[in-house]
Amino acid sequence: MRLIIYTGKGGVGKTSTSAATAFRLAELGYRTILMSTDSAHSLGDSLDMKLGNSITHVRENLDVLEIDIIYEMRNKWSDIQNYVSAFMLSQGMGEISAEEMAILPGMEMISALFYVNQFDEQGTYDVVVMDTAPTGETLRLMSFPDVTNWYLDRGFPVIRRLMKIAKATVGKIMDMPLPSDEVMESIEDIKDNMSRVKVILEDPTRTTVRLVVNPEKMVIRETMRAYTYLSLYNKNVEALIVNRILPPEASESEFLRERFAEQEENMALIHSAFDPMVIKGCPMMRTELRGEEKLREMARLIYGDGDPAAVYSEASPMRFVTSGDHDIVEIRMPFVDSKEVELFRLDRSTLMVHVGSQKINVQLPDVMMDSEIDGAEFKGDKLLIKFRRVYYDHR
Ligand SMILES: Nc1ncnc2c1ncn2[C@@H]1O[C@H](COP(=O)(O)OP(=O)(O)OP(=O)(O)O)[C@@H](O)[C@H]1O
Ligand SMILES: [Mg+2]
Repeated sequence: MRLIIYTGKGGVGKTSTSAATAFRLAELGYRTILMSTDSAHSLGDSLDMKLGNSITHVRENLDVLEIDIIYEMRNKWSDIQNYVSAFMLSQGMGEISAEEMAILPGMEMISALFYVNQFDEQGTYDVVVMDTAPTGETLRLMSFPDVTNWYLDRGFPVIRRLMKIAKATVGKIMDMPLPSDEVMESIEDIKDNMSRVKVILEDPTRTTVRLVVNPEKMVIRETMRAYTYLSLYNKNVEALIVNRILPPEASESEFLRERFAEQEENMALIHSAFDPMVIKGCPMMRTELRGEEKLREMARLIYGDGDPAAVYSEASPMRFVTSGDHDIVEIRMPFVDSKEVELFRLDRSTLMVHVGSQKINVQLPDVMMDSEIDGAEFKGDKLLIKFRRVYYDHR
C-alpha cells in the first residue's frame, strides 16, 4: 500500500490536487481511498457530493472518507474520554464531552493515521491519498509519532507504577480516579498503533509527502520551511506541485502583465530551491474547479499520461552511517542556517535536535548508545552529527 500525503499553505489547492490525483489513480486501476484530515470538510465541496462520517463508495476503485472527529471520539475513544472526564470532575472541573475532546489539536490526524494502519493490515487499498489541513497542522501530524512515543515509552511505565502503588496503599482515600485496566489497555493500543504508523510513515517506498505551492513569494517561503521540517521528521518529500500558474497569455494582458513578471521570478526561485522535485501542476483555470470532470482535467494537466503512484525518489532524509571510528547521523536539512541548530543528548538512546521552533527526538541505533557526540557540521543540505565510539576496557 502506498500513502500519498498532499500538504501546503492554506488555499494553494491541496484538496483539489488530492481529489484529482485520486480520480486518476482509480482510472489506472488502483484501489484508491481519498481521505481528508481537514475539519473544514472540503472534499465534499470539491467532489460536489454529500459525504457522511463513514467510507463512501464513489465509483469503481474509488472510496472517500472525511474524518468526522466527533463520531470517532464517540465510537472509538470512549474509554479514554470517560477517564479524562472522570479525572476532570475529580479536580473540580466540569466533565469533558466527546465534542470537547474532539477539538483537541491533532485528533483528526491521529484518527486518520489509525485508519491508514487498518487499511494497511487489511490490504483493502493499493493507494491512500491524504488531503490535509494547512501546513502548520500537518507538521504536527508528522512530528507526533516521535514525540508522543517518547513520552509514552518513558513516562507511561512510571505513571503506571505510581498508580499501582497508589492503588495498593491509599486505595479509596485518593480522590483522583485511577485509570481502569480498560483505559490502560486503550493507551497501550494507541501506543502500539503509533509505532506501526511510524514505520509506514518513515518508509520512503511506501509513504510520500508532496508539497503543493503557488508561484507567490510568501507561499514559497512557507513551503521551504515545511520541507525543512518534514525532512527533520524523516518524512520523504519527493515532489512539489506548482498550482495556479498564470498562462503565457497573461503577459499580454495589461491587467496581469506585472503579476506575470513576478511569477517568472517566483518560478525561478521555486526551481532553484526544489529542483529536481518540481512538477508543473495546473494552470489557473478560468472556471470553478469543482466536480469529477474538472478534477479529471486537473489530473491530466498535472500528470499527463503519468502514474501518480510512481515513487519519484526513495531517498530517506535520515541515515545512520559508519566511517572509521565514527558513527554518523545524517539528516537532510534544506534551507537551514547552522546557527539555528541545537543538539541535546536526552539519554543514551535519544538525541534531541532543535531547529527553529521544531524539535525532534532521534532514536539512536543500539550500536551508538555508548558513543559520545564529537561534533556536527553541514555538508551541502545535510547535517552530519558525528559520534565517537567509546571502548570500555573490561579487564
Ligand atoms: N488551478 C486552479 N485554478 C483555479 N482555481 C483553483 C485552482 N486550484 C484550486 N482552485 C480553487 O481554489 C480554491 C482553493 O482550492 P483547494 O480547496 O483545493 O485548496 P486547499 O489548499 O485545499 O485549501 P485549504 O487550505 O482551505 O484546505 C477552490 O475554490 C478551488 O476550486
Ligand atoms: Mg483543503
